[in-house]
Amino acid sequence: MKHTDSITKLNLEQKCALLSGDTVFTTRGCKNAGVPSITLSDGPNGVRKQAGAADHLGLNPSVPATCFPTAATVACSWDPALGEEIGRAMGEEAAAQEVAVLLGPGLNTKRSPLCGRNFEYFSEDPYLSGKMAAAYVRGIQSEGISACPKHFAVNSQELRRMASDSVVDERTLRELYLTGFEIVVKEAHPKALMSSYNLINGIYANENAHLLQDILREEWGFDGAVVTDWGGSNDHALGVKNGSTLEMPAPGGDAVRELLAAVRSGKIAEADVDARLDELLTLVLDTHAAVERHSRSFDADAHHALARRAAGESVVLLKNDDALLPLAEGTRVAVIGDFAETPRYQGAGSSAVNSIKVDTFLDCLNDSGLHSVGFAPGFDRQGKPDAAKQAEAVALAAEADAVLLCLGLDEIKESEGLDRSDMKLADNQIELLQAVREANPNTVVIVNAGASLETPWLAHCKALVYGALGGQAGAGAMVDVLTGKINPGGKLAETWANAYADTPARDHFAGPGRTVQYREGLYVGYRYYQTAGVPVAFPFGHGLSYTQFAYSDMHADAHSATLTVTNTGDRAGAEIVQLYVAKPNAEIFRPAQELKAFAKVKLAAGESKTVTLTLDDKAFRYWNTRTDSWEVEGGTYELRVGASSADIRLTAAVEVIGTDALNPYAGKALPHYQSGKVQTVPDAEWETLLGRPIPDDRVKIDRNMTLGELNHGRSPLGWLVWAVMTARLNASYKKGKPDLNVLFQYNMPLRALAKMTNGAISMGMVDGIVMEVQGFWVIGLVRVIFEAVKNVILNAQLENRLRNS
Ligand code: BGC
Repeated sequence: MKHTDSITKLNLEQKCALLSGDTVFTTRGCKNAGVPSITLSDGPNGVRKQAGAADHLGLNPSVPATCFPTAATVACSWDPALGEEIGRAMGEEAAAQEVAVLLGPGLNTKRSPLCGRNFEYFSEDPYLSGKMAAAYVRGIQSEGISACPKHFAVNSQELRRMASDSVVDERTLRELYLTGFEIVVKEAHPKALMSSYNLINGIYANENAHLLQDILREEWGFDGAVVTDWGGSNDHALGVKNGSTLEMPAPGGDAVRELLAAVRSGKIAEADVDARLDELLTLVLDTHAAVERHSRSFDADAHHALARRAAGESVVLLKNDDALLPLAEGTRVAVIGDFAETPRYQGAGSSAVNSIKVDTFLDCLNDSGLHSVGFAPGFDRQGKPDAAKQAEAVALAAEADAVLLCLGLDEIKESEGLDRSDMKLADNQIELLQAVREANPNTVVIVNAGASLETPWLAHCKALVYGALGGQAGAGAMVDVLTGKINPGGKLAETWANAYADTPARDHFAGPGRTVQYREGLYVGYRYYQTAGVPVAFPFGHGLSYTQFAYSDMHADAHSATLTVTNTGDRAGAEIVQLYVAKPNAEIFRPAQELKAFAKVKLAAGESKTVTLTLDDKAFRYWNTRTDSWEVEGGTYELRVGASSADIRLTAAVEVIGTDALNPYAGKALPHYQSGKVQTVPDAEWETLLGRPIPDDRVKIDRNMTLGELNHGRSPLGWLVWAVMTARLNASYKKGKPDLNVLFQYNMPLRALAKMTNGAISMGMVDGIVMEVQGFWVIGLVRVIFEAVKNVILNAQLENRLRNS
């Protein structure tokens, strides 16, 4: 232990108190032991420090900061060096605002395009996610403060996010949902990591010894602090025993008493508390010192410029028929679409930044060299049909050489706390596109959305440019791409499926029960489409440029591939060279190919460069459930290098020496996993892969029953609460504006009442409520009252003792 001296100065109660937050975003301090309090703030694409009333849903305003493009956007740059620059700038702003721990980046694997927080995550591919996230962490921590990669792990949907159980087989867990975190931990050494809300195979992530001890600390060597997600602690004592360092936000005295009682009863050892405290003190003392040393200002203009460059490097040109783009100077353009005036540039929820300034597409067009014939909003942002707006836009379209049509998802379609219900653009936007295109075939669609969309309307536009959620300076970058000042070089970090019905997790995403079955196994994103032979609209890694690149002269062995890339066009550009590994005729089933290396190469017109892609320990490995370790199947592998997952330009066969482990699947019938056709895996086959029966999914009346499940209880009071909340939620949906607060409460388990109320509600009171819901109305009520009085008295006594320590 590093901090034995400080720890021995503390009594058990003081030690336990330090392991949970003081306020929504600060830790407790202890003057006598020289422990300062530190501030943790969101988030992943800019600092959200709340100076006034604090909340974890981004409802109240925060101190102005630079809003960088979200992770889903920057992932399209495939440029870790850029990620590191953004990280450094965010770290600088955080430290300047006295934030010691920045809660990001988010790197959960995009299992389904519908996850409401996909805009906050990088990719469907763990290698790309891990590399980008590691770069952010290095950048943030270069300022001396701590990053906090999140949410560890298997947290790929918002529905029932605090009480859903992600049921996943160990190989899929390791290869798809943990590999990104492994890369971050091993390559960037984050000082903190946030555990996720959900359970994994029946055990809450935050108290999961397999996850936090065996894998995170022992296998990967993580020596930082694990921070709970806000309200994500279930059994605090078990969390502490199994590797969770700091419970947030501020559960009050109850959490302190829970730990004390656990030590006294022998449920956990005092040594567990000391071990966690040692981790916490390292985090607190290091980052506090860094904040103290740091200047209180930063260059907001420079950060705006960086945000603009980042957005520009991340724009993906999806379609460009007849080389409509770039538009020549003086082109007469009609600007259509509400988003041109009111940009959609970030997501909703805890990542929402109070941007220092926000550029709009309309303003940025002014000095672009294009000649605007006018602007028409064209559609109602919330999807209501509006014939007059449409007619005005169509008339304008007819007057121009080309139309710049700004479409996208509105704010509420993708948000923390809420999954999307489909992958569609609003009908009124599609109708507008059709009408505009009839008036002017030179229609360029500019899409702002943090996740993939269905594009049945693709034939109606000549060019399609994806700006994702480009941050506060994204609009200017987009204008630069349209005029050719920037040659787009971004590529998709997520497949765009033809239809939601084609996606692999379709039948097991955000279902009615608590259990989320990850039945599709390894076949997420391109791993599925390419193995099962399902056509897609735009493949993973796809992106066009205003120039062309040729690939030649590849030499490869099991350690690297070297090739030449030449810019054969007439303007400078950047190419993202991707290397996929395939094993034809593999004995152990595996996706058709997997991304294992990539590089972004900037080339002047006519220039050639030699590119070397290095293969690391993850290139050929698979997780063997029989030996419980990483193994390599020996034999011939194919290295496929190309411009996208579907545009392979060069291949090389390499021989790889295997580890000769026994095939864990020998003698087992896994035909769907062999073929990759995993949309309809039968129960028996899924159980074979899982190695156990599918867990029971009945609603239980316990501390983890969600408020949205109270209708399953036996209490009229519970039914009433449920009815009122459901009515409020439905009303907000009808208005087209789901109420995030109600939604959060709806998906919140009863125990979170004790975790999210600054100590006003204790776990004893929650147990009283559970009794009430179980049908013991009188005893339940009496218990709630008794526990409430007890809580007030004990809290006051505790706070008094802590204040004087
Ligand atoms: C989110 C986290 C966030 C935290 C604090 C939670 O609701 O899941 O990502 O960091 O709130 O705002």
